[in-house]
Amino acid sequence: MQQTLAAKRILLGISGGIAAYKSADLVRRLKERGAEVRVILTSAAQQFITPLTLQAVSGNPVSTTMLDPAAEAAMGHIELAKWAELIVIAPASADVVAKLAHGMANDLLTTCVLATAAPVAVAPAMNQQMYNNIATQQNLATLKKHNIHIYGPGAGAQACGDVGYGRMLEPLELVALIEQTLLPLTPLIGLHITITAGPTREAIDPVRFLSNHSSGKMGYALAAAAAAAGATVTLISGPVQLATPAGVNRIQVISAEQMHAAALNAAIKSDIFIGCAAVADYRAATIAPGKIKKGSAETLQLTLVKNPDIIAAVASLTERRPFTVGFAAETTDVLHYARQKLNSKKLDMICANDVSLPNAGFNSEQNAITAIWHGGEQVLELQNKVTLAASLITLISQLFSQPQTTSETNK
Ligand code: PMT
Repeated sequence: MQQTLAAKRILLGISGGIAAYKSADLVRRLKERGAEVRVILTSAAQQFITPLTLQAVSGNPVSTTMLDPAAEAAMGHIELAKWAELIVIAPASADVVAKLAHGMANDLLTTCVLATAAPVAVAPAMNQQMYNNIATQQNLATLKKHNIHIYGPGAGAQACGDVGYGRMLEPLELVALIEQTLLPLTPLIGLHITITAGPTREAIDPVRFLSNHSSGKMGYALAAAAAAAGATVTLISGPVQLATPAGVNRIQVISAEQMHAAALNAAIKSDIFIGCAAVADYRAATIAPGKIKKGSAETLQLTLVKNPDIIAAVASLTERRPFTVGFAAETTDVLHYARQKLNSKKLDMICANDVSLPNAGFNSEQNAITAIWHGGEQVLELQNKVTLAASLITLISQLFSQPQTTSETNK
């Protein structure tokens, strides 16, 4: 395991919530990467996970109260606040978020946050209704204003049966964000990256379209990682249900022809272009002006015409051609077809994406790719799209700045 957090001192605060069970795994993941971790458990957190568990995984005594003379003698609260290079609260309940927003210091965790000079991050975890409550949203906005990092939350099914935003991010997603906070990757400062994401929709009539299962998650994760690495990011997005990542300029499109126009316009102003969108290869030759009626015939024939190949057009620009990276979504002979696309579309790099794998590719939280360029390749194993995107952006920035060296070292 790469020691990306070697000797980094992380103080993990755990507040009360069912997601506290994931915090033990978070400690393990941080330690695997070389971090030293100390843990504060609030009294509510102790209803969900024991100090003994956290002591075993962190290898350090766990602090639970400010008024314990023995604990204060070992490492007092001010010392703990000074020791930390980063305080992460995961899970951060609505109650802790509210306390922090109001500068309260009525327990060990909130006291340490007030007493530290280190950056602080919270990973909210709560019921979706509590998360959407105006009071919680205002408290989170206050934390942002105070330069507290907000990690997540994610969306999905909740322990209470509700569905929506409020799930704590998974430990590996939190690790990636912690790495970004502690080791800000800024190799792309001053560069402009354009990324396409999501599906396109090709209208058949006013109420029907042809499309695919792309959720946009991979492209949006790339946009967030590129922005975190310091780039100016333009995200050209098909229709998806995702929030625009912080600091990213999103251009909304629907069809392949709209994406083509927006992409060429942005590409000539870009240093790097990444085509992650699942663009429909064909569109209806004519769009019926009214809803196509169901006739008596058992079959209906649609005539389709080819859409423009957006990434091939970008890679063929003669002036102001950006470093161009494509994806190849394949179900068989994945590497073979990806290499063919690298060459036929004249790309600098292609990410071979086996979309037949379970839990990878279209509309999944995870993905695995093989990045192939002229003279080298690198496998990025199955992992969350957030961490995969961060690794891919690092690789692209290396190839962009030192094409020869990187190709050879990764052969
Ligand atoms: O969005 P998610 O749910 O997170 O899923 C991610 C993903 C599976 C969509 C993504 O990882 C991926 O593989 N994207 C490429 C999908 C695709 O359409 O691949 P392709 O092999 O058909 O196309 C090859 C390349 O040409 C791609 O870079 C594509 O953007 C580009 N293309 C294709 C057709 C076209 N008319 N214009 C294009 O630019």
